[in-house]
Amino acid sequence: MTIQESLFDPVRKPSGKTGSAVHDLDSLRSKALLCHQCQLSTMRRNVVFGEGNPQADLFVIGEAPGAEEDAQGRPFVGRSGQLLDKILLATGFERRDVYIGNIIKCRPPENRNPLGDEIECCKPWLMQQLESINPKMLLLLGRVAANTILGNTLSMGAMRGRLIRWNRFDCVVTYHPAALLRNPNWKRLTWEDMQMLRAHYDKVRLNG
Ligand code: URA
Ligand code: URA
Repeated sequence: MTIQESLFDPVRKPSGKTGSAVHDLDSLRSKALLCHQCQLSTMRRNVVFGEGNPQADLFVIGEAPGAEEDAQGRPFVGRSGQLLDKILLATGFERRDVYIGNIIKCRPPENRNPLGDEIECCKPWLMQQLESINPKMLLLLGRVAANTILGNTLSMGAMRGRLIRWNRFDCVVTYHPAALLRNPNWKRLTWEDMQMLRAHYDKVRLNG
């Protein structure tokens, strides 16, 4: 089965949560660290592959590394990351409970939005991460991450506030923490989205 076919398989593979998942992800990371598929590779300090529980049931997906992430090679460690940590903690998640990654693994210059060809080049890494980690739920942070994964051009308002099924994953879309730093008014809606996520997470985990 190819990765694409397997992502579309509505039946969760029981083999997803084994020691080999950890091995898969480590070897994937080693390969990604050497990636030179797009121009961003010439400007980066570090590839920001992602981190967290390799068998997480929740995969948190942001847009792209910023300056601090590029410097450290870790996702969400700057100001947005500190806010993300608070949001996760308030919802009962430690960083080590979940897996955190981005659509794009290398920092775009001046933090501009990723270009279409950069997203296309980078997507196979994310698809393989999804395959290896095999989460039950995705938290899609911001419109770029959500439009990329869901393959639509909907606005944040049209995507947030509900569960969206994509392949075998139950997705929640909410505001990007960087957007919340600019517009604290959106924190209330983010809180609602996270409460919904938590309730569904507890339910799917209970049901195996
Ligand atoms: N913003 C993102 O989308 N991802 C990060 O890793 C950091 C900031
Ligand atoms: N609008 C967007 O496009 N993204 C956000 O995160 C918030 C509002």
